[in-house]
Amino acid sequence: MWTWYASRAAGLVSLVLLTTTLVLGVSGVARAATTAWPRFTLARLHRNVSLLSVVFVAVHVTTAVLDGYAPIRWVDVVVPFVSGYQPFWLGLGAVALDLLVALVVTSLVRTRIGLRAWRAVHAAAYACWPVAVVHGLGIGGADTTTGWVLVLTLGCVAAAAAGLLWRALIWSDGSGERLR
Ligand code: HEM
Repeated sequence: MWTWYASRAAGLVSLVLLTTTLVLGVSGVARAATTAWPRFTLARLHRNVSLLSVVFVAVHVTTAVLDGYAPIRWVDVVVPFVSGYQPFWLGLGAVALDLLVALVVTSLVRTRIGLRAWRAVHAAAYACWPVAVVHGLGIGGADTTTGWVLVLTLGCVAAAAAGLLWRALIWSDGSGERLR
């Protein structure tokens, strides 16, 4: 049914958006700001792309549940590893979604919860992204580990790896700032 294709497409768009969010987040702390791209523009872009990724993840899971071909329940969307359909790979999707929700909610109430708590939760971004990647690769089998889907996924991995490497280099030479 069309919903299954919509779910797969939304999953891939979510992955690209999450990767962009991660790279933008890393660039912010790594002082990527220039006159053309001031720091607040990067921060706003980071926030807006992350909110857009939540919208696409919502479409991804809603269409997966509504499709009905695979026995996926609403509870499987948020509770990991309890699904009758591909419990491990689907469970990783649920873990990524739970982490994403925690990241977004704590960011929206950041001024109320304080910087220390927000920063502690925000470190989960480094877990959310790889868990989502492994979920996508694992659950689709041959569909996601061959052809253009694999190329797209590897492109996301390369972009994230480059961003993280840059972050690590800036951190190690002491010129980077802490997350704020
Ligand atoms: C941050 C959260 C998530 C991201 C970024 C994500 C991303 C992806 C990606 C990239 C794929 C591969 C698309 C393709 O077939 O080419 C995929 C597949 C899939 N995802 Fe997710 N996902 C997430 C969470 C979830 C959750 C919570 C569920 C539970 C309903 C779910 C259900 C599925 C299903 C059923 C497929 C299989 C498609 C197939 O077998 O072809 N995902 N996901």
